[in-house]
Amino acid sequence: MSDKLIIFDTTLRDGEQSPGASMTRDEKLRIARQLERLRVDVIEAGFAASSNGDFEAVKTIADHIKDSTVCSLARANDRDISRAAEALAGANRARIHTFIATSPLHMEKKLRMSPDQVFEQAKLAVRFARNLCGDIEFSPEDGYRSEPDFLCRVLEAVIAEGATTINIPDTVGYAIPELYGEFIRNLRERVPNSDKAIWSVHCHNDLGMAVANSLAGVKIGGARQIECTINGLGERAGNCALEEVVMAIRTRRDHFGLEVGIDTTQIMPASRMVSQTTGFVVQPNKAVVGANAFAHASGIHQDGVLKARDTYEIMRAEDVGWAANKIVLGKLSGRNAFKQRLQELGIELESEGEINAAFTRFKDLADRKSEIFDEDIIALVSDESVTAVKEHFRLISLAQRSETGERPQASVTLAIGDAEHSVHSEGNGPVDASLRAIESVVQSGAEMLLYSVNAITSGSTESQGEVTVRLQHGGRVVNGVGADPDIVVASAKAYLSALNKLHSNTERVAAQG
Ligand code: KIV
Ligand code: ZN
Repeated sequence: MSDKLIIFDTTLRDGEQSPGASMTRDEKLRIARQLERLRVDVIEAGFAASSNGDFEAVKTIADHIKDSTVCSLARANDRDISRAAEALAGANRARIHTFIATSPLHMEKKLRMSPDQVFEQAKLAVRFARNLCGDIEFSPEDGYRSEPDFLCRVLEAVIAEGATTINIPDTVGYAIPELYGEFIRNLRERVPNSDKAIWSVHCHNDLGMAVANSLAGVKIGGARQIECTINGLGERAGNCALEEVVMAIRTRRDHFGLEVGIDTTQIMPASRMVSQTTGFVVQPNKAVVGANAFAHASGIHQDGVLKARDTYEIMRAEDVGWAANKIVLGKLSGRNAFKQRLQELGIELESEGEINAAFTRFKDLADRKSEIFDEDIIALVSDESVTAVKEHFRLISLAQRSETGERPQASVTLAIGDAEHSVHSEGNGPVDASLRAIESVVQSGAEMLLYSVNAITSGSTESQGEVTVRLQHGGRVVNGVGADPDIVVASAKAYLSALNKLHSNTERVAAQG
């Protein structure tokens, strides 16, 4: 059996299904480029048939990514599979990932199909897909809660039709490591042609065991592909976290004896990019990528690490891309130095117009903040005024006044389309007053589900504040992110960014439909 473990990243598909995490085509392309730098083997770029927006995103990624295989999800029907093939036509290496539910509950209640109908549809779908693409993955959705006898019958048939990867999803995060590992081993032993396909694990994190289950699927079950997302992004409690599973395989090579092709120094830039793009903040004590992951606070630990690093550290921070915060640029830095730093950070802006807009924002920031760190630059290029996202709502200026014992007030000028509006409001605090002022003119009626503030670089009040706002309206949930040294301004930017997303009509249909 091969000792190469395939890393299949589904941040842009299953990760994006998380309410509020939807991304624009350009944001997805930027993340796909980072995933390519990370050297993931397969990028699941989206679900081409779900919307025109997703089709365009998969197509753009397929046209630009050269090193990783680009994959699209498709339900097990001819229309979805044809759309996936069409979107992937420009890819160097393409994969179609088709799925249908096989658990009694899903077949009866959701699909309203008999097991025989599901069996036929799975077979025909893989046959159809195989005529369009040489690399076909098949997933029995809710596979872990499926009847093993029925599952074996379906899997044998789809492998015979040409499926090259068989993925066993624990769709609802119900598995326990040993049981999931044995489930996969049992399937591999019972399906007569199991050696004709690569077996894959896909675990959700509802019981906090997605990484452990995936590793058991590999170690006990013999799977050779892991499906995962950056920061464990995904619906509900998320998916298996790429950074954790990869570092477990690397750090415990003695146990797993497997190789992954990942450039681990690209893990932190990928984590930051996904967090800043989606507004899903990484918890400080998160393994590998959390702010505290390599911080030793207790005296005993600090003393130990200073004497011999491996007393308390099992991985090196620099191996996963944690560079010491570097002051990279300042007020006097020119356009060329700025452009070069963007390149060093792996940030590719599409046009000279975008570089100019980013440089203007950088100069503006450098006037207000003496030290500019890499994190500031990453936040700056995520700003919608730089990334050429058509902003319907735009902040022009904000003034606020707060004094002990007085009710805070804010005056905001914003552009809505081509018209300028100036409004004034009071609130419980300066942020509340500013957002009320914006809402008084926009009148979105959106419900705020989340408001959170984080420091972009730790350790100093000079840091920029990064604000995430999650809004819900008309059945849609969106996240907006804004960064600024002034957290009231960052809050207004985040709020407007969320309103812009609500205003844009990129609709998606759920992949589990
Ligand atoms: O969790 C799941 O079952 C999925 C499939 C579509 C692979 O994401
Ligand atoms: Zn999933």
